[in-house]
Amino acid sequence: MDAILATAEKKSLTRTLGAFQLTMLGIGAVIGTGIFVLTAEAAQKAGPGMMVSFVIAGFVCAFAALCYAEMASMVPVSGSAYTYSYAVMGEMIAWMVGWALILEYAVAAGAVSVGWSGYVVGLLQNGLGIHLPPTLVLGPFDGGMINLPAMLIAGLVTWLLVIGTRESATVNAILVVIKVLALTVFIILAVPVMNMQNFEPFAPLGIGGIGAAAASIFFAYVGFDAVSTAAEETKNPQRNMPIGLIGSLAICTIFYLLVAAGVIGSVGAQPMGIDAATGHALEPGSRELAAACGAIADQAVVCSKEALAWSMREIGWTQVGNLIGLAAGLALPSVILMMMFGQTRIFFVMSRDGLLPQAFSKIHPKFHTPHVITIITGVAVALFAAFFPVGQLANISNSGTLFAFAAVSIAVLVIRRTDPGRHRPFRTPAIFITAPVAIAGCIYLFFNLDHKSIILFLIWAAVGLLVYFLYSRSRSHVGRGIVEVHEDDPDAPPQPVPPIAE
Ligand code: ALA
Repeated sequence: MDAILATAEKKSLTRTLGAFQLTMLGIGAVIGTGIFVLTAEAAQKAGPGMMVSFVIAGFVCAFAALCYAEMASMVPVSGSAYTYSYAVMGEMIAWMVGWALILEYAVAAGAVSVGWSGYVVGLLQNGLGIHLPPTLVLGPFDGGMINLPAMLIAGLVTWLLVIGTRESATVNAILVVIKVLALTVFIILAVPVMNMQNFEPFAPLGIGGIGAAAASIFFAYVGFDAVSTAAEETKNPQRNMPIGLIGSLAICTIFYLLVAAGVIGSVGAQPMGIDAATGHALEPGSRELAAACGAIADQAVVCSKEALAWSMREIGWTQVGNLIGLAAGLALPSVILMMMFGQTRIFFVMSRDGLLPQAFSKIHPKFHTPHVITIITGVAVALFAAFFPVGQLANISNSGTLFAFAAVSIAVLVIRRTDPGRHRPFRTPAIFITAPVAIAGCIYLFFNLDHKSIILFLIWAAVGLLVYFLYSRSRSHVGRGIVEVHEDDPDAPPQPVPPIAE
């Protein structure tokens, strides 16, 4: 812990951020594919009951966010949950958290790329009359072969990161306005044409359906950790950090609920293909659902890859639908950028600690970026995006995120016990309630994920343990007694808090 804090003390970031900037930062990182795309998947899983799912996922995130904030203010260095766990629970747990964060960030970047593709393909088709062949714009599970636009955007973002692009506060603010405006227009136009009968039956698939949708829609809230990693740059963190975290989550939750109500009320959101015998609906992102949707020619929001644009067109606002498509097309790449940025910086820190090959943390002589690891990440993201459905990627990403959130919540509890006297610029309120609720919430959502994602997570964790014991453990710098204070390395890349540097 002290070695890590010595690292932090080396760099003196000035405290410039207030509650408003933090909230903007949070909204910029959070609103994305979750609400724009996964609303359709949540509807397929829970029907109108998805509104309850949004609330559940929002609550779990709020509790986890409060725990995150205490760690972030106490250990304000790069590496996020990986670093926090290292400081408190030792290397092996930290390794597992870092390994899970690969799922969180890289797979999420893939999911958002697929979401972007759905909107841009829809916009080209409905706005400009350009029809791209489905084989080239949909992955194999969605009825196509390869999702080229999703690969393209992942490649483009990789290139931006290699040449050292960081989003400025101004660009972030503009994109936040675009996203919020798009959602507001959607709400204003959808709410007046709501038909209350569309809310019946409210929970066609019961509590199980609502839980499954909550586990998926959790993705819509991921990204607020960007706020807590800015702890060190925050004025009066004890006051502004919770306002920023809870404020951005609350604003997003309200928007999400209104948008969900708009979708349900205006175009209906009943699941498709409920099997009367088992009570299950067809899986989102499955070949069966794609086939069923194909047969009735895109008649339901649960079939759409661009749920909000589709709903607008369906109720007669074709051009507004296209504008929402344009807003998503402009704003989603910044979410991909933040996710991939986070990923490369975590890889960088893990490699610098000796747990991953040193070659990963090589810095480009001209651009000053960790280009090797950025390109490796970019290739992986592009491959995920090319072949997998958005909902599956989101669920896999959620499995890693939930693990990391739970680990941070445990870490915060542990260190209150082991090191009660340490200075905490932000203290989690009622920690002995908040942290256990966060942990229980993460476990609840984790076990509501689809089985494939849970199994994949377990395989991923097992591979992680193998890599740790066969490779990383013996090479760890801490394990070998090397204590470094890195942050004033002249070649260290920028910190993972891109939008606020200016
Ligand atoms: N919360 C982000 C999104 O929904 C990851 O795209």
